[in-house]
Amino acid sequence: MNVPNQGRLDPAGRVIMVSGANRGIGAAIAARLRQDGYHLSLGARTPDDIAIAAGDDCHHQAFDALDAASPQAWGDATAAKFGRIDGLINNAGIAAAFGFEDGDEADLDRMLEVNLKAPYRLIRAALPNLKAAGSGRIVTVTSLAGMRFKRGSPGYAMSKFAAMGLSSAARAQFWDDGIRVTAVAPGPVNTDMMPQGFTAETATQPETIADIVATVIAMPNNASVASVPINAVYEPLP
Ligand SMILES: NC(=O)c1ccc[n+]([C@@H]2O[C@H](COP(=O)([O-])OP(=O)(O)OC[C@H]3O[C@@H](n4cnc5c(N)ncnc54)[C@H](OP(=O)(O)O)[C@@H]3O)[C@@H](O)[C@H]2O)c1
Repeated sequence: MNVPNQGRLDPAGRVIMVSGANRGIGAAIAARLRQDGYHLSLGARTPDDIAIAAGDDCHHQAFDALDAASPQAWGDATAAKFGRIDGLINNAGIAAAFGFEDGDEADLDRMLEVNLKAPYRLIRAALPNLKAAGSGRIVTVTSLAGMRFKRGSPGYAMSKFAAMGLSSAARAQFWDDGIRVTAVAPGPVNTDMMPQGFTAETATQPETIADIVATVIAMPNNASVASVPINAVYEPLP
């Protein structure tokens, strides 16, 4: 039986933007999508730190999520270079301590800016091209902390719950444009952001998150995944 590419979309010629592509999960996603054959537009505050060389099939963009003008500039530069945008991976994020009885509200504002507003602005910036693609894809790397609160920073959880709302709203709004939107919600991952109490062995590997992202963006329009909670240790859903 001939099942072309097992029913997956063909990456050839498709252009994917990845934020925070210089390290951690974002670097793993970029490496995986490169291997799969996508054209990449990689955003980072320090593009010189991006492991994949810039070239005909890879654009580097100085992207700062704290700069409100940065998303549109990146979207414009991507469309100018490739003439299309097929996917956006909202990965860049920050975590800071902020609670009800401790913390600085400036840290909450920064988390909302980087984890919520920059992804919102990037969606807006990429939207005309994602619509034109007919099979646009948006993935936001949220967190289990955005699906239930267990421990850690309440402010971080608030920003990630908000990012889940962003993903859910975008999924509904752009479904009829062929855009499929997914929230990928890891627990602890073996990066600089790994929470205390986990090790490189007990946390999920960034390459595994990249594998999941690569899978969901390759699903056809009639097999869309809304959210992927990822447990490193057992807990009842999510
Ligand atoms: N690791 C975990 O346990 C875990 C669990 C659940 C969800 N997540 C989420 O996964 C995503 C990736 O995190 P990670 O684990 O890979 O953490 P990481 O290793 O700390 O990487 C964070 C990435 O976000 C970028 N970033 C931070 N502030 C930025 C800004 N203002 N503008 C542009 N980029 C900025 C960083 O760039 P710089 O190098 O310039 O700082 C870096 O590329 C985040 O959204 C995070 O919340 C992580």
